[in-house]
Parts: sequence; C-alpha cells; structure tokens
Amino acid sequence: MLTRPIFTAVFFLSFTTQMNIQAFKVISTSSNTHQNITGAAILQKSADVCRDHILEQGQNFVQPDPLTAETLAVACHSPASASTLKSVITDISSSNAKVDGKHVFDAEYHFDDESFERARNLITQGVSDVKASLKQKNYEYARQRLGETLHTLQDFYSHSNWIELGNRSPYSTLIKPSLPLDNLADVNTPTCSSCDDDCTGNILETIITQKKLTSGYFSLLSPNKPKGKCSHGGLGDLTSLVTPKGGINKDGTTTAHGSLHFVAANVATAATRDLLQDIREAAGNVEFLRLMGIFQSSSVLCFVVDTSASMTEEIAEVKRITSFIIDSRRGTMDEPSAYVLVPFNDPGFGPVYKTTDPAEFKTEVNALSAGGGGADDPEMSLSGLWLALAAAPLASEIFLFTDAEPKDTEMKSTVLALIESTKSTVNFMLTNPLTNTTRSLSNPVNQVYEDLAVASGGLAIEVPKELLPNATSVINGTSISSLVTIFQAVRDPGTVQLFSFLVDSSVENLTLYITGNSTRFTITAPSGQSQSSGQSDGSLAVIQSVVNFHMVQVKNSSQAGVWNIYMNSTQPYTLKVTGKSSINFQFDFVEVYQVPHPGYTVFKSRPRSDGNVTLLLSMLGSGSEVPTIVLLVEPSGSGFHTGLLEDVGNGDYLVTVTTVPKGEFFVRVIGQTNSSSTSDYHSFQRQSSTRHRASSFGVTAVRNGTWFPGQLFSIAFTVATNSSYSNYTVTARNSGQYNMTFPSSLTTGSDGRANGVVELSTPGNATAGTEVILTIEVTQPETNDTNYAFLRLAVSRAVAPPAGLALSLWLSAGTLLIGLVINK
Ligand SMILES: *[C@@H]1O[C@H](CO)[C@@H](O)[C@H](O)[C@H]1NC(C)=O
Ligand SMILES: *[C@@H]1O[C@H](CO)[C@@H](O)[C@H](O)[C@H]1NC(C)=O
Ligand SMILES: *[C@@H]1O[C@H](CO)[C@@H](O)[C@H](O)[C@H]1NC(C)=O
Ligand SMILES: *[C@@H]1O[C@H](CO)[C@@H](O)[C@H](O)[C@H]1NC(C)=O
Ligand SMILES: *[C@@H]1O[C@H](CO)[C@@H](O)[C@H](O)[C@H]1NC(C)=O
Ligand SMILES: *[C@@H]1O[C@H](CO)[C@@H](O)[C@H](O)[C@H]1NC(C)=O
Ligand SMILES: *[C@@H]1O[C@H](CO)[C@@H](O)[C@H](O)[C@H]1NC(C)=O
Ligand SMILES: *[C@@H]1O[C@H](CO)[C@@H](O)[C@H](O)[C@H]1NC(C)=O
Ligand SMILES: *[C@@H]1O[C@H](CO)[C@@H](O)[C@H](O)[C@H]1NC(C)=O
Ligand SMILES: *[C@@H]1O[C@H](CO)[C@@H](O)[C@H](O)[C@H]1NC(C)=O
Ligand SMILES: *[C@@H]1O[C@H](CO)[C@@H](O)[C@H](O)[C@H]1NC(C)=O
Ligand SMILES: *[C@@H]1O[C@H](CO)[C@@H](O)[C@H](O)[C@H]1NC(C)=O
Repeated sequence: MLTRPIFTAVFFLSFTTQMNIQAFKVISTSSNTHQNITGAAILQKSADVCRDHILEQGQNFVQPDPLTAETLAVACHSPASASTLKSVITDISSSNAKVDGKHVFDAEYHFDDESFERARNLITQGVSDVKASLKQKNYEYARQRLGETLHTLQDFYSHSNWIELGNRSPYSTLIKPSLPLDNLADVNTPTCSSCDDDCTGNILETIITQKKLTSGYFSLLSPNKPKGKCSHGGLGDLTSLVTPKGGINKDGTTTAHGSLHFVAANVATAATRDLLQDIREAAGNVEFLRLMGIFQSSSVLCFVVDTSASMTEEIAEVKRITSFIIDSRRGTMDEPSAYVLVPFNDPGFGPVYKTTDPAEFKTEVNALSAGGGGADDPEMSLSGLWLALAAAPLASEIFLFTDAEPKDTEMKSTVLALIESTKSTVNFMLTNPLTNTTRSLSNPVNQVYEDLAVASGGLAIEVPKELLPNATSVINGTSISSLVTIFQAVRDPGTVQLFSFLVDSSVENLTLYITGNSTRFTITAPSGQSQSSGQSDGSLAVIQSVVNFHMVQVKNSSQAGVWNIYMNSTQPYTLKVTGKSSINFQFDFVEVYQVPHPGYTVFKSRPRSDGNVTLLLSMLGSGSEVPTIVLLVEPSGSGFHTGLLEDVGNGDYLVTVTTVPKGEFFVRVIGQTNSSSTSDYHSFQRQSSTRHRASSFGVTAVRNGTWFPGQLFSIAFTVATNSSYSNYTVTARNSGQYNMTFPSSLTTGSDGRANGVVELSTPGNATAGTEVILTIEVTQPETNDTNYAFLRLAVSRAVAPPAGLALSLWLSAGTLLIGLVINK
C-alpha cells in the first residue's frame, strides 16, 4: 500500500518528486524500512540461537559486534555460511516487500481499517504455515511465508495507535491466537480529530485514556470511512482528505506521526524477534538455524535416476559416488546440506525422496535397483527431472542418469520454466552414445537433454556405460559449497576463438569444463604459462578427458588475473569456468511501479521484452563487494546490454536495462572488492549459470487466501500484452499431481489483458506444509513465444478454532465440567 513502505523496502527509487509526500527513500538513513527491521531481527535472534547451540556443543561463542551476516557467520564458527545467511535475509525481505505490491487493496495485510481480527488471523495462519513447512523441511516456502507474515506484523506498529497509547513493547497477543484481542474501538466509536500540518495529538483523548486500539483507514479509490475514524494519511490516501483529516501512520520520519517512527520501528523489531522466537521454540535450534542458512553449505546432492532394466551399471555408479561424497565430506564445509533422489522409468516417476540426513540418503540410494521400464525404450525422464527441480533448494546442481531418450518431451517447456525460476543447473550423464570409442558420435535422441543442459548452464556428458566412473568426477567437483560460475560460452556451430576471463584472488579450485567432439584447446595463465588439451598432467593443470567431456583442474588457482583459453574447434562446444569463492551474486527480476508510490515486486516469470527490464541484484561475500558493470550477455557473445546501477543499500542494487536481448541471455557482473586488507587482485567477474529470456507478454499469478486440505483453491492469473484480441494457449502443472482445472486458451481484451483461474483440489488427507510447485505456462501459438508464472504453495493446517479459547477460559475459571459441556 501506499505507505506501508516505510516499513517497506519500497521507496527505493531515487524519487524526489512531489508525488512522494513521505519525502524519504525507503532505504535511507533517516528512516527504517521493512527490510531494515527484518534483517536486524533475524541477525539478533539468530545470534541468540547460535550462541545457545554453540555453547551446548561445548564450543566458544563471542558475541559479534557489529552484528552483520559476516560477523555472525564467523561467531557461529561457520564463516562460509555468510553468503547463505545473506541470501536468506534477502529472500525473506523480498517476500515481505512483495505484500505491498500484491495486496495494495487488502486492508488486513497492513492492519488498516481497524481490521484487527482478520490481520491477526493472517499472522496466526502464517506462523502455522511456517512451522508446518519447516516440519516438512520445505525451507523455501517457510521463508516466503515468514516474509509475508512479518510484513503484516510490522505494519501493526506503524498503522495502529499501539505506540500512541504509550506502549513500548510488542503486543504479544498478535502471535498468541489463544488470547482475545481486547478493547478494540468498535466501528461506531470515533477515534480521531482533524489535523492539518501537525497531526501529533489528533487521536481523541477518550481513546487514549480508555486505551482503545484503533488503526488508520486507507483507500486509494474512495474517501469513504466510518464516521470519526482516523486515517492512515499520506499520498494517495483519499480517506485522509475528509473529516477527520490527516493521519496517524509512522511509516517514516516525515509522515503524520513521523516523530514516533523510530520508536515504532524499534518495537516492530522486538515483535519480529518474538515471532522468530516462537518459530524457534516449535522447530528447535538446529532447524531454526537451517531456516536462516546458518551452518549450511550451499552444496546439495540431487540425483534423478533412470531405474529401467538396462541401468544396472549406472545405478551401481550412483551408489559408489554417493558413498564417496558422503564419506569424504563428513564434517567439512562441503558436506551437502540437502539430499534429493528422484527415480523414474516408464510409466512411473517419483516419488521424491528428500532429506538432510546423509545416512538416510545412503540407505535410500542403496535401495535403488534396475528393473522397471515399459516395452519401448524412452522413459519418463523429464517428469522425474521436473519433480527434482521442484523439490531441490534454489540454485542446486542436479545430475540425471539415463541411457534412454525422454518419452515425455511435452514436459520440456515446463522443465525450462522451472530451470529459470529455480536457477538450478542440470547435468546429464548419458550412457547411450552411438559408439564406444573416444570419438563418439553424439546421439541425436539426446538433443532435448543437450538443450536443457545448455539452458541451465549444465553439462550433457555422453559416455559408454563402462566409462561412466571416469566422468562422475564432475559430480565431486561441482557438488561443493560456494561454487561460482566465472564464465560460460556455447558455440554451435563451433568457431575457432580465444576467450578471456578474469579470476580474482578469492577463487580456489579453478576448474574448466568443456564438452564437444574432438575439441582441442590451450589454456594460458596470467603468468603466461600455458598447457594444451593433449597434456593430461602438465605444470598448469590436470586434464581429464572422457569421450566428449573434458575437465581441466587448475593446480595453482591463486593466479589472479586474466586467463585465456584458445578453442581450436569448428564442431559445437560448451565451455564453463567455475571455482570456489565466497563472492557471488543473486538476482531476481522485479517490476518497478510508480503508482501509488514507487516500489518494486519480485516476480517469478520471464520479464517483458517491450519495456525496461529491472533486476534486484544482491552481492554475496564479505560485504565489501561493489558491482561496477552488469551486463545481459547473449550466448553468442556478440550482444551486450548494459544495466544502469542504483545502490539501494544492504548490498542490494536495482539494475535497469533498457533494451533486452531478443533471445536468451546470461547475467554477468563485474565488480570490485573494497577491502584494503590485502594487495590482492581487486576485480572480480561472475556470471549466471542459467540462461534467461524475455517474452512479449507478461504472466502474473497471486497466491491469495489459505488452502486447506479437501478444499478447492483458486489462483487467479493475468496475461498482459500490448496487443488486444490475441489468442493464447494455457497449460498448468503442479508437482503435487493434484487434480486441477484451468482454461486451455485465453484471448486478451481491448486492454491487452486476459484473466484466468486455476482451481486446485486436494485430498482431505494432504499433509500440511508439503510444498507444491505450480507453473502456469502461456504460449502464443503464432510466435511460439512462451511465458509462465511460478508459484510455491502448500496446504495449510487449520488453526485451532476460537472454541479452544472458550475452553481455556472456562478451565481457568475452575469449572472444568461446565467448560467441557459448553465446548461440545
Ligand atoms: C536501514 O538500512 C540502510 C541500508 O543498510 C542503512 O543505510 C540505514 O542506516 C538503515 N536505517 C536505519 C535507521 O537503521
Ligand atoms: C484476495 O482475496 C480477497 C477475498 O476473496 C479479495 O477481496 C482480494 O481482492 C484478493 N486480492 C488479490 C490481490 O487478489
Ligand atoms: C566398442 O567398440 C569396439 C570397436 O569399435 C568394439 O569392438 C566393441 O565391441 C565395442 N564394445 C561395446 C561394449 O560395444
Ligand atoms: C566428431 O569428430 C569426428 C572427427 O573429427 C567426426 O568424424 C565425427 O563426425 C564427429 N561427430 C559429430 C557428431 O559431429
Ligand atoms: C577410466 O578410469 C580408469 C580407472 O581410473 C582408467 O584406468 C582409464 O584409463 C580411464 N579411461 C579413460 C578413457 O579415461
Ligand atoms: C573430490 O573433491 C574433494 C574436494 O571437495 C577433493 O579433495 C578430492 O580430491 C576430490 N576427489 C576426486 C576423486 O576428484
Ligand atoms: C581446492 O583448493 C584447495 C585450496 O587451494 C586445495 O587444498 C584442494 O586440494 C583443492 N581441491 C581440489 C580438488 O583441487
Ligand atoms: C588448430 O587445430 C588444427 C588441427 O585441427 C592444427 O593444425 C592447428 O595447428 C591448431 N592451431 C593452433 C593455434 O593450435
Ligand atoms: C527505462 O529506463 C530509463 C533509464 O533508467 C528511463 O529513463 C526510462 O524512463 C525508462 N522507461 C520506462 C518505460 O520505464
Ligand atoms: C482468436 O481465436 C478466435 C476463436 O478461435 C478467432 O476467431 C480469432 O480470429 C483469433 N484471433 C486471432 C488474432 O488470431
Ligand atoms: C481427481 O479426479 C479424478 C477423476 O475426476 C477423481 O477420480 C479423483 O478422485 C480426483 N482426486 C482428487 C484428489 O480429487
Ligand atoms: C491419502 O489417502 C489416499 C487414499 O485414500 C492414500 O493413497 C494416500 O497415501 C493418503 N495420503 C496421505 C499423505 O496420507
């Protein structure tokens, strides 16, 4: 909503226009934002939990000062988790900010319009959802719901008169559903008098003395509000223009009650900590720290395995590499933080097996056996991959093992949508090459796999079965923590070309992965030293070559500077340069809006090609990394589209690109570390692994309301384009395989918009907190242009009805028998 923002990361843009009556930027030193409050409370509560956990283990804990993601990670004896913690705070803050974009007109999301009961119900349901999804280890959904719930909780302190009533600590009833909301001003009770410039003291004396709780009314559309009621106030709030005029919000220092802004923000921070404490008590210290990304390596082991009859050798290799990785990583920072296994054959695929326990995972992998599969060769590989992409944490490295072509090629565009949304990388270990020689012919049936590998920045490795163990070292190399992509290029057809990339001093284990038939190359270090592909063990690197796959492990990767690789091949090839480093970036596409006030909403779909594309870029690292150039790079390497950077604080940047590549693109970030502690090389370069693309139309979908087992749940979606009366086809898929209805086609109206609804039904016994990924894909048949909306959903557990309240009151009155009778 309009102003919620102050507590919202929304005013961002350097808007100095008269439009913005609040006259502050959201991220500013003069006011607190939702993001500041959320970030501070998460760090403070996590420090408490970490201290208790560390002391319990008999280790030493030193309270970090100042408290930042980096200092806290060090204090927790887990410096490498600074990036995961920072990234979690960004995700939670983004879903907090999104509430303003998606629920501008829904008063209860902001405690406006005296909607206390409904707003408290949102908080109660939100906390219940976070706990249920934590129980199912669905951390991403838990973070999303946490961010949304915190938005509403924090808004209470800005939009109600709690602070004006003299309170300086949180209203704990808001997170205790069993307690009644007392002493609310009813709809007939006037609460405010008019004010013009100075609105301090506009709340009626009787309200203050009787300690009645009220909140401001707000509307962008109509000046109507019940008689005598306070308004929110500020730009666009039409209700504040009618008597009683003025407002009471404390969103910023210059708003109606801006003098109480910092007080309100402090209490909101304390309330946020209390809610986090409630979640910690339910989940336990270890799960709470996992939720926050502490002690988490970013390494995940995720296998999608063909279990049809011909796969005996491959399954044996999956078992071997699983044991090897689990055993060799135990207790190290590279120990995977999550394990996912999805089997498939034909017609079966799934179920998903997901755990954080390595021993359980080993048991599950060891239980795999080759046996299924229909009479024909193709298998349900893309369906299996789709489930894995939905279940794995964001930005995972996924490995799919098969010796057969996909039977379910209609799933390709859904899989692509999931690759783009999750930014996970998919590597294919294909054991169906046409020959078994080292000059193997690429099997044309693998084209779909090759396309998906390229789109995700992964590898499609084709080896005969007996050579699979020679290729699985790639799994060992990429399933490490803090893996970063430095450079990628794909040439199809191949070209003889020299590529240069910058390696900074933070990079260890510099590794180049090359796929291609008969590929010859020469690498040259900044020192001038070089080695060609023919030398398997040279002074610079160890080069392993297996059929179409080459892995170059640089021996001394502390050679910061510009590296070159000369690719001497006219056959198609892919080149990927990775390393281990704490410096990385994450980004989301965001929609920037000016009305009713400048702000942004993160969206999980392709950006529109007919306007500016904006990215919210977050730097991960020591806290001193500054991006200097952000580019959208076409895979051919020929087109660069430069973004305009705007620092919005907390290591976050808004990047605006005015012209978008026609086809696919990578995001490349070049930057500098400001750290002066070393004389090291200060520039760095990173690149997105995933390829992205824009679409000529947008698709948006909003999760609204609560989804209970046994009920229909409706999700409204909108297609928006510049052209009226154009036709689109629609496909929706959900990873829970629940029954679902949706329109199969849509036509835009004269305004270029078309609306549809997806209706999901679930069995009554569905488990609360089990995550379901929904993708709604929309295609324009003439151009074959596709866009999609990606949503995370989970069934909720019904929160105890108010009857429980009656019972507890009766019990406390000592009339147990009567209480029980009445409750019946
Ligand atoms: C809010 O966060 C921004 C960005 O880190 C910071 O500059 C500002 O000082 C913070 N505001 C307050 C009041 O803490
Ligand atoms: C959410 O649902 C409520 C109740 O059905 C409706 O009034 C509101 O407009 C919806 N909000 C959005 C953003 O769809
Ligand atoms: C591999 O190729 C060689 C010669 O090309 C052939 O003799 C041999 O039988 C093949 N092995 C398998 C397992 O296909
Ligand atoms: C691989 O390279 C060899 C020799 O350069 C060539 O004979 C063969 O046709 C190539 N295979 C493919 C799939 O291009
Ligand atoms: C594969 O690995 C085995 C065992 O390490 C080794 O003897 C063999 O030479 C390797 N083959 C190739 C083609 O790299
Ligand atoms: C596997 O990776 C670890 C580092 O995570 C490395 O120490 C080890 O040498 C690797 N093993 C193989 C066989 O590549
Ligand atoms: C990775 O780098 C570290 C430090 O440079 C080194 O100790 C380790 O052996 C390397 N691992 C591999 C697999 O090269
Ligand atoms: C490139 O490869 C060709 C053989 O395909 C070879 O004759 C030529 O010398 C190579 N060029 C360089 C610069 O290595
Ligand atoms: C696109 O971005 C440029 C540069 O920030 C800005 O001047 C222009 O107004 C933007 N255009 C639109 C349609 O938002
Ligand atoms: C859209 O579909 C309708 C009905 O099938 C058809 O009459 C109309 O011509 C189509 N519009 C366009 C722009 O193709
Ligand atoms: C899904 O639909 C099928 C066929 O309409 C029906 O038999 C089945 O009971 C439905 N399942 C659920 C969970 O609603
Ligand atoms: C729900 O019930 C169906 C059959 O009625 C059963 O197949 C399924 O396993 C149950 N699911 C859960 C999560 O209990």
